[in-house]
Amino acid sequence: MASTSIRWAFNWANWHPTEKDLLKVVSCLQNEEKERLGKFVFRKDFRASVVGRLMMRKFINEYTDIPYNEIIFTRDQNNKPMLENASKSIAFNISHQGSFTVFVGEIRNVKLGVDVMKLEYTGGKRLSEFFRLMDRNFSPAEWIEIRGGTGTPESEQTAMFCRYWALKESYVKGLGVGIVIDLRNIEFRTSSRLRENELVIDTSLYINGVRQNWFFEESLLDSEHCVAVAVQGIESVNSSKNVLFEKISIGKLLENAVSLIPQDPEYCRQYFAKRERP
Ligand code: COA
Ligand code: MG
Repeated sequence: MASTSIRWAFNWANWHPTEKDLLKVVSCLQNEEKERLGKFVFRKDFRASVVGRLMMRKFINEYTDIPYNEIIFTRDQNNKPMLENASKSIAFNISHQGSFTVFVGEIRNVKLGVDVMKLEYTGGKRLSEFFRLMDRNFSPAEWIEIRGGTGTPESEQTAMFCRYWALKESYVKGLGVGIVIDLRNIEFRTSSRLRENELVIDTSLYINGVRQNWFFEESLLDSEHCVAVAVQGIESVNSSKNVLFEKISIGKLLENAVSLIPQDPEYCRQYFAKRERP
């Protein structure tokens, strides 16, 4: 069977659910996820995370024969979401940051990770000071790429920093282990610039100087967000379709959604009573 690569992005910052939409969305959550999401203080964090749950369920529903309301997700010991009793070869992962939630899925047994980053620095300190604090997370060669030559604008340095960060996170998330590895030894070598509507697939990963059998897809979702996908196996370059992220609408996300639990007006009222952001 030809392999299928799913790459979805949803801009939840522009999504302001009606009460009707929200009632539906919340009824498509497993109870423990509903409870987890109910604890978010800000509306934006709730939306970023809930969209990921809808994406996972849509993916499993479309690409396996499990009925929508019978899909059960669990999390492994590192908190990575998994499909319970996965008999079929599938892999998926989620990331949310800035204005987007992104989802990657493959219909094969492969390690897969994704990370989206907004190309901005909001740390308060001077950028050079922030870079010094982050020193041990990047190799000397990576810092040369991030800092650029003399006179490189801070916006470009920030964008490059975010790109390398997303690459490292996508790999760590593909491994599923969380940040336990010495990040400085995970060295990325990039060749091409990121441009909107283009896919970069010539970035490679070296650990202690040895090229790794992993493949990376990088792109810009818009001028402000970069995304990196890590797929185990260099052969992925041929077996994946290597597609750009598809921006999907709330209509598409909910098109085959079936409620798992009863609608909960009080829960939704609490969402609308929250502040959007700090
Ligand atoms: N492996 C893979 N995916 C995981 C995961 C794990 N161990 N644990 C959670 N996830 C998934 C979940 O779906 C989660 O979303 P949800 O909680 O809404 O379900 C999603 O990944 C979060 O990813 P993202 O939005 O990219 O968050 P993050 O970048 O803040 O964190 C972590 C990613 C938690 C998996 C992990 O990599 C981490 O500990 N990061 C800390 C940041 C850091 O030190 N980065 C250094 C990189 S240079
Ligand atoms: Mg992230």
